[in-house]
Amino acid sequence: AGADGVKRFPLRLQEGRTELLPGKPAATWGINGGHLGPTLRAKRGDRVAMAVTNGLGEAGTLHWHGMRLPAAMDGGPHQMIRPGGTWNPEWTVDQPAASTWYHPHPHGQTARHVYRGLAGMFLVDDDTPVALPSEYGVDDIPLIVQDKKFTSTGQLDEDFGGTFGLLGDQILVNGTYGPFFRPTTSRVRLRVLNGSNAHVYTVGFADDREFHVVASDAGLLAKPVALKRFKISPGERAEVVVAFQPGEQVLLKSFNGDSDIESGDFDLVKFTAAATLRPSPELPSALAALAPLKQASRTRTFRLGGSNINGRNMDMTRIDEVVPAGAHEIWELDNVTYAHNFHIHEVAFRVLDVDGHQPPEHLRGPKDTVYVPGKTKVRLAVEFGHHTDPKTPYMYHCHILKHEDQGMMGQFVIV
Ligand code: C2O
Ligand code: CU
Ligand code: CU
Repeated sequence: AGADGVKRFPLRLQEGRTELLPGKPAATWGINGGHLGPTLRAKRGDRVAMAVTNGLGEAGTLHWHGMRLPAAMDGGPHQMIRPGGTWNPEWTVDQPAASTWYHPHPHGQTARHVYRGLAGMFLVDDDTPVALPSEYGVDDIPLIVQDKKFTSTGQLDEDFGGTFGLLGDQILVNGTYGPFFRPTTSRVRLRVLNGSNAHVYTVGFADDREFHVVASDAGLLAKPVALKRFKISPGERAEVVVAFQPGEQVLLKSFNGDSDIESGDFDLVKFTAAATLRPSPELPSALAALAPLKQASRTRTFRLGGSNINGRNMDMTRIDEVVPAGAHEIWELDNVTYAHNFHIHEVAFRVLDVDGHQPPEHLRGPKDTVYVPGKTKVRLAVEFGHHTDPKTPYMYHCHILKHEDQGMMGQFVIV
């Protein structure tokens, strides 16, 4: 933080050339570099001031996915930055510790902007002591998982055709081809972000070892949940803690699933543990005291069609929903077509049920994005914030970026 107590983040969207595939420099976009962006970090209570300069040849935005902030600071399609321009949003971070992220949100162009490399993590810390591995880069590792398609010369193939848009056959993690990591501690925390355009991953280890999920999108779970595999759809985050034995080698993978957007068997990260490992803290048996759900003041229903919501496409001039500040509501998603997912800006929600059944335990924590399989109903208990602005909307949308670009998005204001 500066002398005035404000934490300043100069960020520049820029073009670059990056060897995504070894020996084959590709045209890419990045933030403060040629591809992807820096991991930002702030603490609950911090005042943060962004200076986002657009060094691209076309208009763009930068959206703080998972941040709870005033709508005018949100970086959605209404906060466009012209080429050469600088946008200066500022807010006070006030939410529990979480792995949030940032990416562009220009209406109709998000798929292309994210795919070229505009994305990064934004970690929020708070004062609640919790004994989880937390030394960044040592035992606390971000993993931005993205699928790509390459031309024969190693350029990004921008093939956004098909029902779901781009589905790659090559995975980069943190923008890296063939990534590996060398654990030096007995446990490592992985903050997994699915930063892909459309792909849904089923993440686990090649030897099917058990690990613990400790956090979902918007913060810690009530307690660690032991799992061998979990699904993660675009925009979602999951924090897991995994134990390693000295000297062992194991692959983190994404396993083939049964639908178009889940197909493919991919190696994500190769772990080779050091010969001696520093002991990590024991996993705590309890993580967060999740507030009991409050009585909802109303229910809204959203029918997810092929690329629309309630039969309508995004209209920047139409406010679809007006929500009172601090409201607790039930949002019912009725997916009448193929797989989608659903993200709501500004809020934190809990998944109440999926086709009438309680969600799996690792999806019972605070979230902002949820996978909605084809022909499925999902009910969310949504808690809205207190930043009122009757004129500037927040978005809710499918985070399969082609669908979002096609207008599978709506706008709400908090009043
Ligand atoms: Cu991650 Cu409206 O987006
Ligand atoms: Cu968002
Ligand atoms: Cu969709």
